[in-house]
Amino acid sequence: MPLALGVDTVPIDDCEIFQLPKIADVRGNLTFVEAYRHVPFAIERVYYVYDVPGGSERGGHAHKDLHQFIIAMAGSFDVVISDGREEKRFHLNRSYFGLYLCPMIWRRLDNFSSGAVCMVLASAKYEESDYYRDYDEYLSAMDSVAL
Ligand code: TYD
Repeated sequence: MPLALGVDTVPIDDCEIFQLPKIADVRGNLTFVEAYRHVPFAIERVYYVYDVPGGSERGGHAHKDLHQFIIAMAGSFDVVISDGREEKRFHLNRSYFGLYLCPMIWRRLDNFSSGAVCMVLASAKYEESDYYRDYDEYLSAMDSVAL
C-alpha cells in the first residue's frame, strides 16, 4: 500500500475497503484496529460524526497530508471519493470494515441512515492548514501532481 504521492502512485486506487478482525462471541462481537497492521499509519486522532439529520452531507474537502480510516460504527452511510478525474462511491454498513483514504483525495459523505455513527481514525492532530476546502484550489494542486 503506497503511502506517498509519486509518479508511480495513483492515489484513488490506494483508497480501499479493508476488513478488520472480528472476534465472534455469543456475548457480543469484538473488533480491533492496530496501527501499521490494519491501518497504514500511526493513529494520532479519533473523531466521530453522529446525530446526522436525514439528507445531510459531511466532508466536501481534501487533506494535504492526512491519512484516514473511516468506519461505520453504527448504521450506514456512503463515502464518495474523487481525485478530480475519477469518482468512486463506497457504502459502509459494518463496524468490521473500514475505508482507507490517502492524502489528496476529495471526499464527501452522504446517505446517512438514522442513528449512523461515522468514526474516523486519523494520522495527525486537527490542523486547518491541512485542508483543501475549495474544489478548484484542490484541482489546481492535483494538476501539479503527476498521476
Ligand atoms: P470538518 O472536518 O470540516 O468536518 P466536515 O467536513 O464533515 O464538515 O470539521 C467540522 C468542524 O469541526 C470544523 O470547524 C473543524 C472542527 N474540527 C475540529 O476542531 N477538530 C477535528 O478533529 C475535526 C475533524 C474537526
